[in-house]
Amino acid sequence: MTRLGILLSGRGSNFEAIADHVAAGDLEAEIAVVISNRSEAPGLEAARRRGLPAVAIPSKGLDREVYDRMAIEELRRCGVGLVCLAGFMRLLSATFVRAFPNRILNIHPSLLPSFPGLDAQHQALEHGVRVSGCTVHFVDEYLDAGPILAQAPVPVLDTDTVETLAARILKEEHRIYSEALRIVIGGNYRIEGRRVILG
Ligand code: GAR
Repeated sequence: MTRLGILLSGRGSNFEAIADHVAAGDLEAEIAVVISNRSEAPGLEAARRRGLPAVAIPSKGLDREVYDRMAIEELRRCGVGLVCLAGFMRLLSATFVRAFPNRILNIHPSLLPSFPGLDAQHQALEHGVRVSGCTVHFVDEYLDAGPILAQAPVPVLDTDTVETLAARILKEEHRIYSEALRIVIGGNYRIEGRRVILG
C-alpha cells in the first residue's frame, strides 16, 4: 500500500478530495501524514477531523535547506513513499527533490507551461486566454516545471472573475489529482525526457 505524504499551506480542498478517494477505497493508498508550513492552515484541521496525522512545521524565518531537511525527516519517519503537494506554496530545494526522486507530485491551477507561479487564475484572466485549466506534474527543482502527468481544460468566460474561474478550475483539480495518483501508484508509466508515457 502506497503511503502518501501531503504537504499543504492553506484550505486543503485538494487534500480532502484525495482523502475522500482513499476513504472510498478507490485509491490503493493510505495517507501517512499531512504536513503544513503554516500552523493555522485549515487543511491541518481538516486532517485532524479525519483522524489523520497532521503536523505543523512552520517555515517562517527558516532557511529553505534547513526547512526541507525537517520536512524530509518527518516524511521518512512516517514511511512516506509518495509526496503530494496540495496547495503547498513553497519551492522545494534540490535536497528535497533528490530525497524523493520522481516521487513528488504537484497540482497547479493553469495549463502549464502557461502561468506558472502565484495567482495563476489571475494571470490567465489578465492575459485574456479563452481556455485555462489545471495540471498535475512531477516536481523537479524548478517552479511548476516537471514532467506532466495530467491536465484538464476549462473555458474562460467573459463574465469570469478570479473567483469564478478558480472555482471552475478547482472542480477539475479535485478530479485529475486522484487520476494522476492512480497512474503513479499503479506504476504503469515511464518518464522519457519531459514526457510521461502511459501504459
Ligand atoms: C489550488 O488551486 C492549487 O492548484 C493551488 O493552490 C490551490 C490550493 O487549494 N496551487 C498552486 O497555485 C501551486 N503553485 P486547496 O488548498 O484548496 O487544495
